[in-house]
Amino acid sequence: MPKKVISVVGARPQFIKAAPLEMVFRDLDDYEFISIHTGQHYDENMSQVFFNDFGLEQPKYQLHVGSASHGKQTGSMLEKIEEILLQEKPDLLIVYGDTNSTLAAALAASKLNIPIAHIEAGLRSYNRTMPEEINRVLTDHISSLLLVPSHVSVNNLKKEGITRGVIMTGDIMMDILRISTEKNVVSKPVDQAYYYATIHRPYNTDIPERMSQILKEMNSLDKPVYFAIHPRTSSLLEKYGIDFSDFNNIKFIEPQSYIGNLGYLLNADRIITDSGGLQKEAWFVKKPCVTLRPETEWIETLENQWNVLVFDDLSILKEAISVTPGAYNQGVYGDGNAADKIRASIVEFLGN
Ligand code: UD1
Repeated sequence: MPKKVISVVGARPQFIKAAPLEMVFRDLDDYEFISIHTGQHYDENMSQVFFNDFGLEQPKYQLHVGSASHGKQTGSMLEKIEEILLQEKPDLLIVYGDTNSTLAAALAASKLNIPIAHIEAGLRSYNRTMPEEINRVLTDHISSLLLVPSHVSVNNLKKEGITRGVIMTGDIMMDILRISTEKNVVSKPVDQAYYYATIHRPYNTDIPERMSQILKEMNSLDKPVYFAIHPRTSSLLEKYGIDFSDFNNIKFIEPQSYIGNLGYLLNADRIITDSGGLQKEAWFVKKPCVTLRPETEWIETLENQWNVLVFDDLSILKEAISVTPGAYNQGVYGDGNAADKIRASIVEFLGN
């Protein structure tokens, strides 16, 4: 009997993290790799476009949970995933990162005594007002395999008494970056010098005055800002009645595919973001970044000002964007072969 693993994805960053793992599992004859897509993200350019970019198979299960309050969304996923787990009886469940899809799947599996492998375990912002922080802490505490991107994560887990099953694999987002750049499919999106921005965290978008202030500050920078707008941000901008034409220096663009995002990232002068993924991708490609957050779980990126945090006083964005970073400490997130290490850890854990 082949071993069966179920991988649960649902939000944009998870399609990116699952892709390299699915690629390496496909090579194993004695493993069945099944995907569940919760449908947390459902817009074409928040979901399907990533399957196209990576040539991934369509998930066996599509749950179509869509948007709702956190409780409703997580609860609905929990119920549906449990049903599938009861039917499929997998040997192990794989979850990624810190979204509501991660927590729902982990809870469903833990109640059925199905072991969980958590990819990107051990991250902490130590800010419990972030839903992601709750999701990652809870998921870590019920996982059997904690596959961590860096030594900082190993220490974070140790502080919470978790030492068993912790394996340092490096960051899986480096794998997909390596694979995509090797394929040479990334192109230059525009013919001018620019900054590339993404903003979607509730503490930046949900207070109209703060959102407007962010736009004003980006609008007054010395280079145009290409701003890829997450659907939650664009619907809020509409709700606040913000007039895009007031911001001549900002080019409002659609959320990007993985390859599109890489094109903007690689050719930008600097990055402005509140995304965990983009902060890290900026660091991977040695691009200075300003993060509009009070803290970050990717603390290695802060070393020598490769990533600068700006939160309370937005007026310092101008200054922060012109900082010259110091030495670059390569290798803290592994070597871009995390998927192989994760697969080996899972195979060893499940035995024969
Ligand atoms: C989620 C994750 C966050 C991650 C982000 C990446 C949680 C708690 N948060 O946040 O960690 O950084 O994904 O993108 O899981 N919407 C659409 N179409 C979509 C998806 C969302 O219109 O395809 C809109 C809806 O109005 C929805 C809102 O965006 O209510 C928020 O979506 P949701 O998935 O709940 O959270 P994100 O902000 O995307």
